[in-house]
Amino acid sequence: MSWQAIGIFDSGVGGLTVLREIIRKLPQEDTVYFGDTARVPYGTKSPETVTRYAVEIAGFLLKRDIKLLVVACNTASAVALSALKRQLSIPVVGVIEPGARRAVEVTRSGRIGVIGTAGTIRSSAYTRAIKRLEPRAEVLTQACPLFVPLAEEGWTDNLVARLTAQSYLKDLKEAAVDTLVLGCTHYPLLKPLISEVMGPGVTLVDSAEETARTVAKILGDKKLLRPEAEKGNHHYYVSDIPAGFIRVGNRFLGGRLGDVYQVSLDDENGDSR
Ligand code: DGL
Repeated sequence: MSWQAIGIFDSGVGGLTVLREIIRKLPQEDTVYFGDTARVPYGTKSPETVTRYAVEIAGFLLKRDIKLLVVACNTASAVALSALKRQLSIPVVGVIEPGARRAVEVTRSGRIGVIGTAGTIRSSAYTRAIKRLEPRAEVLTQACPLFVPLAEEGWTDNLVARLTAQSYLKDLKEAAVDTLVLGCTHYPLLKPLISEVMGPGVTLVDSAEETARTVAKILGDKKLLRPEAEKGNHHYYVSDIPAGFIRVGNRFLGGRLGDVYQVSLDDENGDSR
């Protein structure tokens, strides 16, 4: 079973930030990525709809014979993880728990900020995960929906991005959080700007890095890692035409995106077209 791939999905291109960390940490592993580009964004949709999408995608990836599923999308992790865990017999890793664990490890004051999509923030999934680990923690949250289109547009360091960040982060800054969880796939691209706006005393927690660590640990514990001398292959599937995904994805992944195939999830076999 160790020769099987790691499955990973997101609402679109953002999950490539999580894939990038997994490839960096586990270069020997094959991966199969699915980006639901026809139905993005998830951050504005109801938990019921996002859960239905997530279950459909998991079914598609299971047919690709995966040994572990990574829910790279924070919104899907926030609302659909328990449904996926109930239905799947392989390990399912979301991004919330690893990010929360890291935040609790690094905070000194116990005042932790969390930013994410409207859906992630509304779910309170990060707050619950942090409080489970450290009941005395004070968690302050802020939805930052405009960060998603800014990151996709490549507007990560211009005046519009700066004003947006200053406006979204004002309350968290005033509340003097010492740790800020980047609770959305896209936010790592805005890390330098967010860090600058929050100031040097605030530690940013990248859920993508922590998730890659968790994946490595689970596969290691279960003896499911491929030998280190191997070099993994990476396959990409999307639900809309691939052009936009390829253009933005190369930036998110750092220019290493391979062939991208469009698939229809309605097609029972999930075959590529
Ligand atoms: N991938 C989503 C997340 O991490 C952001 C984009 C969307 O709203 O679908 O929450």
